[in-house]
Amino acid sequence: MSNIIIIYSTTDGHTREICSRLQKITKENNNEVTLIPIEQTSELDLNKFSKIVIGASIRYGKHSKKIYEFINKNEKILDTKPNAFFSVNVVARKPDKNQPETNPYLKKFLSQISWKPKELAVFAGKIDYQKYRILDRFMIRMIMWITKGPTDPKTSIEFTDWNQVNNFGQLISKM
Ligand SMILES: Cc1cc2nc3c(=O)[nH]c(=O)nc-3n(C[C@H](O)[C@H](O)[C@H](O)COP(=O)(O)O)c2cc1C
Repeated sequence: MSNIIIIYSTTDGHTREICSRLQKITKENNNEVTLIPIEQTSELDLNKFSKIVIGASIRYGKHSKKIYEFINKNEKILDTKPNAFFSVNVVARKPDKNQPETNPYLKKFLSQISWKPKELAVFAGKIDYQKYRILDRFMIRMIMWITKGPTDPKTSIEFTDWNQVNNFGQLISKM
């Protein structure tokens, strides 16, 4: 049995939902699993855990600054344990951009840090226009219009392939 920690960064909660699914799958494989938002990691002792997973969503082209800071601060300990990173973004809804090797945000992120996660994943996120502030809604609808996605302001759509998430949960259980 492993003691897994999943650290996540979310704005609208979708990455948290993905983490909950990962928690469910890894628990079913008899692991102990802790979920913790990046904002609550200042006192966290990573030594207590046998595997470390980090997940973060993209907002206006970037993962949260806090994720970079956490990784830079903990790179040494990350390297001593089985570890994984995953990114959540809506560009990953496109079949040619839904793999770690083809997703522009994940590729850029990896080029900006020196940590080399042992396992990687990218998951398509969710669009829920009614939840967004006016400017965000306008901007995302513009991006969707440009990239041929849904623009109806009432749209709430989950692009996430939950089978892909389940498979990653199995991978984490085994790593
Ligand atoms: C204000 C805003 C900006 C976003 N910017 C991007 C972006 O630049 N590229 C992208 O692929 N997805 C972008 N997204 C989509 C999010 O990555 C997607 O909604 C994801 O599910 C959010 O996860 P979270 O709820 O865990 O933050 C954006 C979403 C919002 C609301």
